[in-house]
Amino acid sequence: MILQRLSLLALTFGAAIASARDQAPLRPPSPVLPDATSRELLYLHRKLVSAESITENEYDVGQWLAAYLKLNDWTVEFQQVSEKRYNLYAYGKKRSTTILVSSHIDTVPPFWPYYYNATTDVIGGRGSVDAKGSVAAQIIAVQALREHLYDDLSLLFVVGEETGGDGMRAFSSWSDRPSPQHEIVIFGEPTEGKLVCGHKGMLGFSLHVKGKAAHSGYPWLGVSANDLLVEALGKLLDLRDKGLPWSEKYGNTTMNFGKVTGGVAANVVAETASANIAVRLAAGTPKSVRRLIVDALAGVTAGAKEAGGELEIEWRSEGYEPVNIDCDIDGFESMTVNYGTDVPLLTGDHKRYLYGPGSIFVAHSDHEALERKELEQAVLDYRRLIIEASKMVHQGQEEL
Ligand SMILES: *[C@@H]1O[C@H](CO)[C@@H](O)[C@H](O)[C@H]1NC(C)=O
Ligand SMILES: *[C@@H]1O[C@H](CO)[C@@H](O)[C@H](O)[C@H]1NC(C)=O
Ligand SMILES: [Zn+2]
Repeated sequence: MILQRLSLLALTFGAAIASARDQAPLRPPSPVLPDATSRELLYLHRKLVSAESITENEYDVGQWLAAYLKLNDWTVEFQQVSEKRYNLYAYGKKRSTTILVSSHIDTVPPFWPYYYNATTDVIGGRGSVDAKGSVAAQIIAVQALREHLYDDLSLLFVVGEETGGDGMRAFSSWSDRPSPQHEIVIFGEPTEGKLVCGHKGMLGFSLHVKGKAAHSGYPWLGVSANDLLVEALGKLLDLRDKGLPWSEKYGNTTMNFGKVTGGVAANVVAETASANIAVRLAAGTPKSVRRLIVDALAGVTAGAKEAGGELEIEWRSEGYEPVNIDCDIDGFESMTVNYGTDVPLLTGDHKRYLYGPGSIFVAHSDHEALERKELEQAVLDYRRLIIEASKMVHQGQEEL
């Protein structure tokens, strides 16, 4: 960061601090986005954010976006994912391209309307960051590059990223999927303008406990599902505190008891109880961590059975191990993140990058917003990322 500031200052003040210029800048000083391009960017972003598109309700924003892309000379194909839910795949002269640029058009609930504060240049609303900031910046970035890259670029905007990625799964198994597969895929999610070198894996599961109801004055006549659940959660806390895999790159595996429910009233022995739990894997595989969880709960499971109750573990999906992502482009800062993405759901052998404007820390909040200059910078950065990544692929081909 310091080097970067110095290099910009050196440009501004010329000879006054010429010595600073001798140091290698971290990133080349960016050209500024032309006014017309910036206006188009803000227009596109505003239209996308204004259209409510909470997962399952992506239809309207998808239709609008398809029309916008067609107007800008893209061929647009819809891929149906489920009823009234479509992925958008867009391309220029050819359908199979070296580079695929992708993000998602669904958002988390609830909807917050779009706003633009002209005093602070802050733009907010649901999806302004996650991930319509990426969608808008990607489209504007790619538009100007098409001629230079012989239209060897395509765009994919999927539904359903926020609730398990059914859109990207559908694209991966699309029988009409463009082939040969893309060599470079650039994913857009809020990364604070940095390149992400990887993210943690994921394993989601629920505990379901069945007991036997009774009057709380005579608890020995029942089996408390709540007691059993509390005991099970205790075992998982112990496991979390000392037994889960970790790595230098991603830190500790974390486990969140996101939702715990049980029983009906203080004077009734609880008949049922359950917990929804998310594990973020810093190392290991879903399989190895499932084994650890089953083992940690073995005693409680056996005890429940003996008492006439039941403890069942439901794995909500297969889960995935930590996801390593390419971040070998000069001039970008890099980091790892703890949230999940569609990245592991796109099958195939390709270089993959993850970059986007705005911070994940505001992404799902009621104050989701970003600065206008972050959006503009993202356009410049996507361009640079695409150019550098495609140079690397072509170099690789020449060497072969
Ligand atoms: C813009 O932001 C400033 C500073 O936070 C605030 O005082 C002002 O009320 C905002 N303007 C609008 C129109 O929301
Ligand atoms: C990881 O867990 C260990 C042991 O519980 C703890 O001492 C350490 O501070 C944790 N590291 C991070 C980065 O949270
Ligand atoms: Zn997202």
